[in-house]
Amino acid sequence: MLVPYIVVLGGILLSKIPLAAALRKISNDAHLFEYETIQLTNGELTKVAHSKSVGTLVFGFGGTNAKTASKPRTRCKTYPGDLAWPSEPIWDLFDDLLGGALIKTTPEASLCYPEWGRYSANECEELTRTWNNSTLRIEDPTSIRSILFQGMTCMPPNYTARFLGRPVNCSVGGFPEYSVKVTNVGQIQLAVNIARNHNIRLVIKNTGHDFGAKSTGKGAINIWTHHLKDAIFYKKYKAHGYNGPAFKFGAGIQVNEAYRLAKKHNVTVVGGEGKSVGFIGGYIQGGGHSPLTSIYGMAADQVLSIQAVTADGRFVTADAKRNSELFWALRGGGAGTFGVVTSMVVKVFPRLRTTTLTYNMTSGGNFTKEKLWAAQRAYIDGFEKYADLGYYSYYRIRHVSGQLYHDMTSMVAPNTTEAQFRASMAPLWTKWEEIGVPFAPVIREVDNFSDAWELAFPHEVWTWAMRQASRFLPRNILADPQKRAAMVDALKSVSDEGANLILFNMRNPPGSAQIDNAVNPAWRDIVGFAIMFVTWNLTDPEPYVTQLSRNLTYEWNPRWKALTPGSGTYMSESDYIEPNWQESFHGAKYPRLLSIKQKWDPEDVFYATNAVGSEKWQLSEEVMGHFPSQNSKLCLK
Ligand SMILES: Cc1cc2nc3c(=O)[nH]c(=O)nc-3n(C[C@H](O)[C@H](O)[C@H](O)COP(=O)(O)OP(=O)(O)OC[C@H]3O[C@@H](n4cnc5c(N)ncnc54)[C@H](O)[C@@H]3O)c2cc1C
Ligand SMILES: *[C@@H]1O[C@H](CO)[C@@H](O)[C@H](O)[C@H]1NC(C)=O
Ligand SMILES: *[C@@H]1O[C@H](CO)[C@@H](O)[C@H](O)[C@H]1NC(C)=O
Ligand SMILES: *[C@@H]1O[C@H](CO)[C@@H](O)[C@H](O)[C@H]1NC(C)=O
Ligand SMILES: *[C@@H]1O[C@H](CO)[C@@H](O)[C@H](O)[C@H]1NC(C)=O
Ligand SMILES: *[C@@H]1O[C@H](CO)[C@@H](O)[C@H](O)[C@H]1NC(C)=O
Ligand SMILES: *[C@@H]1O[C@H](CO)[C@@H](O)[C@H](O)[C@H]1NC(C)=O
Ligand SMILES: *[C@@H]1O[C@H](CO)[C@@H](O)[C@H](O)[C@H]1NC(C)=O
Ligand SMILES: *[C@@H]1O[C@H](CO)[C@@H](O)[C@H](O)[C@H]1NC(C)=O
Ligand SMILES: *[C@@H]1O[C@H](CO)[C@@H](O)[C@H](O)[C@H]1NC(C)=O
Ligand SMILES: *[C@@H]1O[C@H](CO)[C@@H](O)[C@H](O)[C@H]1NC(C)=O
Ligand SMILES: *[C@@H]1O[C@H](CO)[C@@H](O)[C@H](O)[C@H]1NC(C)=O
Repeated sequence: MLVPYIVVLGGILLSKIPLAAALRKISNDAHLFEYETIQLTNGELTKVAHSKSVGTLVFGFGGTNAKTASKPRTRCKTYPGDLAWPSEPIWDLFDDLLGGALIKTTPEASLCYPEWGRYSANECEELTRTWNNSTLRIEDPTSIRSILFQGMTCMPPNYTARFLGRPVNCSVGGFPEYSVKVTNVGQIQLAVNIARNHNIRLVIKNTGHDFGAKSTGKGAINIWTHHLKDAIFYKKYKAHGYNGPAFKFGAGIQVNEAYRLAKKHNVTVVGGEGKSVGFIGGYIQGGGHSPLTSIYGMAADQVLSIQAVTADGRFVTADAKRNSELFWALRGGGAGTFGVVTSMVVKVFPRLRTTTLTYNMTSGGNFTKEKLWAAQRAYIDGFEKYADLGYYSYYRIRHVSGQLYHDMTSMVAPNTTEAQFRASMAPLWTKWEEIGVPFAPVIREVDNFSDAWELAFPHEVWTWAMRQASRFLPRNILADPQKRAAMVDALKSVSDEGANLILFNMRNPPGSAQIDNAVNPAWRDIVGFAIMFVTWNLTDPEPYVTQLSRNLTYEWNPRWKALTPGSGTYMSESDYIEPNWQESFHGAKYPRLLSIKQKWDPEDVFYATNAVGSEKWQLSEEVMGHFPSQNSKLCLK
């Protein structure tokens, strides 16, 4: 039905339609952002083209009763070259309706390749130099961090991985075909509708931080939310039993912006440690851990209300009373799965005095690797105690020039003075002195969390010749001296065999398990979280990199899993090919999440690798023989 119609339409000359003809400003119900009042409406759609039906067929809303909507029409999503792929005039019309917000993908690094017609040696050199600067990459509609799973189809030439065995060239590859630089809700609705009506892959890029490359995909329409930067502070926000300060944040707000606003309004917001991570996208919808998690819980636990465009293209409010199951799923069930969130209201807390600790140490000389690990054992012995004091830490143990380099990015002690902090840590530091640990702590007490964080955490860089796997460290394991010793042995064993470690010490506060949202239940029982990662250089041979990568998933992470039965891991910082991810990321909540997914998105308008409901789908090719490639067609299994 749809396909021949569009073929016919391709031959019709469409007149330019002003944005106002399709999108309408609706009256505000008090809590919407200005950009949320610009919406697509059924009535306006019929004016879109010469024929009423063009507007509704191409851009019309999905079935009003999602439960009875049809299944996907073909086995694969629609790709350029397919009969159902919209013709040029349709894309032009789409762009007109969007008010010129449609961007055809030009990979950033294409300026290093003469055949793209925008070559500049100087700009290429600058891009190469700053390729790992997340702040710059976020400003591009399609650049992402986890470029490996995109197929690395357009890298600055100096970063082309020889192990992929391809000539140095640049193609759109696994990047989306088009991006929509959205500045209002109506544009999001148009994008969701055209994607759904043509069965085109849809992705959302906020910052592109996602470790699982969930913000990219071949042949996709990409909703780029980065410019939705509105924020409102409510001194008193009353809703469903809450009566206190809150922020409403737009979808493009980043963690550093949230913290700056919190400081300005003399409050504390529960956000991540990463500075340029998006607040409302993958972070909070995946759960969101924070330097304040040990006292306040997950970022998702703070959400009071959500605005979103759902798979049928409609704009909805989800909170405790309205669309409550969607509200439940969007708080921890994973992003890019249930809808496009346009804003969230989150509760905030009073200003918080915070003490931070930073240090680093390197093995070598009389400070052997064994001593470094003895120091680790002593520290991990206290994980329960520190987490129960409300502390958090984030640190790494890496291989550098044959030695172990351990840097405490930061330990954070909220609501704690320097004197209290020192007193609580003294027993450990005495032990370290006995071991002979070279310890030069930098301790700062700051009267507000925002500034404490600003001083203690570095700006993140994006690295791409690496990958990771992870596991929670449950309290019951670390509370038992024998099991704890075995766990530390397992951490050490993967380090000994070449992996690098990232460790977190944190808990969820008492009572968190009773919060009725989609946060992985395994989060509620932890006192730590461990990530292992491997890196390689771009000249390493393919067999080596593949074996290293396979070891991560099939040799090393299973050791951690074997010692932590029934626990899980954090979807947003996990293995791209995590076996049995449903269990690891969602535990007993998976069946409910899947049924909500099936109800709200029966046609799988939203797909992300390892997201709820994605098991029906398969990417048709692999990178390095074991990574589902975003540079391949997405088809039903
Ligand atoms: C340097 C660094 C530091 C980090 N620090 C922390 C930390 O302290 N705590 C923590 O919990 N995690 C942390 N993370 C992990 C982080 O939470 C995830 O990478 C997360 O997916 C990033 O979300 P984003 O929206 O910024 O990124 P993107 O890659 O743009 O998006 C991630 C996913 O969210 C979807 N999405 C984005 N916006 C929306 C929206 N508006 N509606 C629906 N879906 C959307 C995308 O489609 C994609 O599936 C960190 C990651 C990095 C790289
Ligand atoms: C790429 O590498 C070459 C050789 O290693 C070096 O001379 C050149 O400056 C690098 N180019 C850029 C853009 O960094
Ligand atoms: C980022 O890249 C620059 C230029 O290649 C390099 O000097 C710098 O060390 C990198 N930063 C990190 C943390 O890798
Ligand atoms: C990254 O780029 C931004 C914007 O140009 C700049 O302000 C910042 O200093 C850069 N960061 C690093 C680590 O180079
Ligand atoms: C890049 O090289 C591959 C492998 O030779 C080839 O298939 C592809 O068409 C090339 N892409 C471009 C844009 O030249
Ligand atoms: C900021 O908040 C703190 C803690 O709640 C309070 O003591 C202080 O008076 C507030 N300052 C201002 C300027 O409102
Ligand atoms: C390691 O710690 C020392 C002492 O505080 C500090 O001078 C140095 O800058 C730190 N190194 C790094 C890479 O942070
Ligand atoms: C901070 O500490 C004070 C005094 O110890 C205590 O009364 C208060 O409840 C603490 N606040 C939080 C958020 O833990
Ligand atoms: C280790 O060596 C350093 C000098 O390299 C010395 O100052 C220190 O006392 C030694 N520590 C132990 C425990 O031997
Ligand atoms: C936050 O802390 C810093 C460092 O202690 C201080 O200079 C600043 O005045 C504080 N700001 C607010 C708003 O409390
Ligand atoms: C790449 O890593 C290998 C070890 O895996 C090392 O032998 C080689 O020197 C490294 N090459 C570069 C250019 O760093
Ligand atoms: C992978 O693991 C095996 C067995 O644990 C080990 O022998 C091998 O060296 C590892 N390979 C790499 C590249 O890490």
